[in-house]
Amino acid sequence: MTQLPIREELRGLHPYGAPQIDVPVRLNTNENPFQPPRDFIEDLGTAVVDVAKTLNRYPDREATKLREALGLYLSREAGVPTIHADAIWVGNGSNEVMMHVLQAFGGPGRRALTFVPTYSMYQEYARNTFTEFVTMERDADFTINAERASREVSALNPDVTFLASPNNPTGTALDLAVVEALLQATTGMVVVDEAYAEFRRPGVPSAVSLVQDNPRLIVTRTMSKAFGFAGARVGYLTAHAGVVDALRIVRLPYHLSSLTQAVALAALQHATELKTQVKLIREERDALVTWFDAQGYETTSSDANFVMFGKFADRHAQWQALVDEGVLVREVGPEGFLRVSIGTQAEIEVFKAALAKVGWR
Ligand SMILES: Cc1ncc(COP(=O)(O)O)c(C=O)c1O
Repeated sequence: MTQLPIREELRGLHPYGAPQIDVPVRLNTNENPFQPPRDFIEDLGTAVVDVAKTLNRYPDREATKLREALGLYLSREAGVPTIHADAIWVGNGSNEVMMHVLQAFGGPGRRALTFVPTYSMYQEYARNTFTEFVTMERDADFTINAERASREVSALNPDVTFLASPNNPTGTALDLAVVEALLQATTGMVVVDEAYAEFRRPGVPSAVSLVQDNPRLIVTRTMSKAFGFAGARVGYLTAHAGVVDALRIVRLPYHLSSLTQAVALAALQHATELKTQVKLIREERDALVTWFDAQGYETTSSDANFVMFGKFADRHAQWQALVDEGVLVREVGPEGFLRVSIGTQAEIEVFKAALAKVGWR
């Protein structure tokens, strides 16, 4: 690569991605640990066979049926009036829809902002779209103070502000007052990344409820986490129809395959039964936080399907010691912390035993 006329700022960089190490217990990429239920798998199979008959044709460029179904699911989940297809955009994972957002609203001479620590891909979308990238620190408890944020953000006036809620890797959910304050403080787009929203605790609101009244607000979601559909690559967003129209301009033609559209539609039929899995994951998370507290670990209260824990003098050594015990967690976030995704009850038992065995590094 060093010999190639690659863009200067890409020279020597490594592709993003958590280590994919083959160990018995993998708790490092916030996946749903449960295999899809049997009838879910069968319905997906039927959908694939049906669509296979038309694979000589390009897919529906607008993915209209899928957008309609996602709108119905999201309005039920967030408890808002029906969201129509024109207020939904869908792509190959929420990573792709957020790239579309920066392709349409970022770009050369424009600025994106986020609050760290947070999901590190925002910086990569910015780099890939030649958008300037700036960060502000979250408060010590990883929340965002609405007053301080609006004061400082209004001076920067970013074209796009990314707010993850629940935040990765801290699990912190955002107060909607922060979203409203930032919409007031900037003239740019505000993106609330709700990849983990289905895991939020009762009473924690979703920013979806603010979309109707805010034409500069975008809320992204994904089927990768709660739906147990990470391998299928389906992410989406809701925003005003005008925003969706802007995103339709920058997408590649036929960006979402017929296969993806068909299996996502079939999966959405099973939304209700998948709720049981989400409930189990939530309960396991709350129990793990209680266990961490009792053992004297530092954690943050999490509304997601993972928990950040520490603090370790040498977190890399701690991570490696767990890998040696067959448990893969993620080395990410503030210095001294690791992040564990919520697995099945059996996997979490193995994790706890491994942690107890290796002690503190
Ligand atoms: C905060 C956050 N947003 C978005 C994503 C991307 O999810 P996907 O592209 O699978 O929809 C992730 C993945 O881990 C994430 O942690």
